[in-house]
Amino acid sequence: MTSPAPARRSCLTIALAAGEGTRMKSGLPKVLHAVAGRTMLAHVLAACSQAGADALAVVVGPGREDVAKAARAIAPQIDVYVQTERLGTAHAALAAREAIARGYDDLLIVFGDTPLLTAETLGRMREALAAGAGVAAMAFLAADPTGYGRLITNGDDLLAIREQKDASEAERAVRTCNAGIMAIDARKALRLLSDIGNANAQGEFYLTDVVEKAREHALRCVVVMASEEEAMGVNDRVQLAAAEAVMQRRLRVAAMRRGATMIAPDTVTLTWDTQIGRDVLIEPGVFFGPGCVIEDGAVIHAYSHLEGAKVAGGANVGPFARLRPGADLRKDSKVGNFVEVKAALIDEGAKVSHLTYIGDATVGAGANIGAGTITCNYDGFSKFRTTIGAGAFVGSNSSLVAPVTIGEGAYVGSGSIVTKDVAPDALAVARGRQFEKAGWAAAFRAKQKPKAKT
Ligand code: UD1
Ligand code: MG
Repeated sequence: MTSPAPARRSCLTIALAAGEGTRMKSGLPKVLHAVAGRTMLAHVLAACSQAGADALAVVVGPGREDVAKAARAIAPQIDVYVQTERLGTAHAALAAREAIARGYDDLLIVFGDTPLLTAETLGRMREALAAGAGVAAMAFLAADPTGYGRLITNGDDLLAIREQKDASEAERAVRTCNAGIMAIDARKALRLLSDIGNANAQGEFYLTDVVEKAREHALRCVVVMASEEEAMGVNDRVQLAAAEAVMQRRLRVAAMRRGATMIAPDTVTLTWDTQIGRDVLIEPGVFFGPGCVIEDGAVIHAYSHLEGAKVAGGANVGPFARLRPGADLRKDSKVGNFVEVKAALIDEGAKVSHLTYIGDATVGAGANIGAGTITCNYDGFSKFRTTIGAGAFVGSNSSLVAPVTIGEGAYVGSGSIVTKDVAPDALAVARGRQFEKAGWAAAFRAKQKPKAKT
């Protein structure tokens, strides 16, 4: 017998992002600082969406059009609310009163500066609500609890959360701390949040007081444990770097679990959206900027820098290669050391092995580009394309002055400066012709030697 599927619960998430972030010492609002190439706010909202949030809201400080704009860029449907005065976390949540009043089953309140928050933990908090809790608070065991709200419990029941400044000596000894993230029965939330007062050491409306309010209404409050790492809030650049380190480790582990080999994982930098397939080998010191897709079986040799690049299976990159946005390396192609590729297709089996710049170009299948070849794609105003046909051979130290086409199977003599199209299967030589004067060097020496001072 199959049991009926549980009724799907609707969910609203409110991200509090009205923080001042002065300790970042930055012109940029705190939540817009990036971790693994994506803003902290985007990480948090992504975790909420993944946890099944039907609606997202963000609470920003007055005049923070930049945060509002960034939030809309991440999630176009997001509701933006302004907290005009910074009177506490409960007050901030109530700035989104209108969204809460629309009626949902679950309400998740998250902080915009906790980029390591996972959908898995948010999911467990929603499960606690589904199992009948009125409030679920995310907590962690702190190495040093100073500054955090402490969880006062009795068995599995959460009785209260006490802020550091309001806690008694005994309460301060508690090491189970409030991460700040809260799941609340959304049908009761407006009532509970509105009941919260500000008679405390900081004169703030504390979101944490929702626990005692819920208990007054005979609602059960529970704790959902997470790691201290996941709960980490970022307040300054040192903490930002610590969050980055954790995120990088997560991304590398995920790539390795999906079948990539990393010889020295700690030296590899990824971006949140880096896609790495199976049997990809990544040597030490490789940097992946945004928008990279590395397909099954590619090899990225040491100290290569990739951004917006696609690398197909069997392709070889580096060592010391630079792939810029629009680099599209097809199957079994090769981009070797000290080669830069930008907005260019390197077709199947083509080789660009050493010391070359290929920009705004197509390199046909099986073509060979000699060392030191440069596509001259820019005249100071506009960019022009270079097209190199399949099977063409460009001799070393050639300059291809775009717009220009090298026909299929054509040869370009080494050291050429090619300004005109080359026909398929032709040979183009565009350099000074070599001439020779027999005995000239010996005669020159004989003449100069008597004049020499030393
Ligand atoms: C909060 C919790 C504390 C928890 C800690 C975890 C409360 C009352 N306390 O304390 O129990 O251990 O987080 O880091 O909730 N915010 C606003 N508007 C406000 C106040 C805050 O938007 O008026 C936002 C901030 O931008 C920040 C978050 O809410 O993202 C938390 O505020 P913060 O002042 O850092 O709270 P803590 O004192 O750290
Ligand atoms: Mg804080």
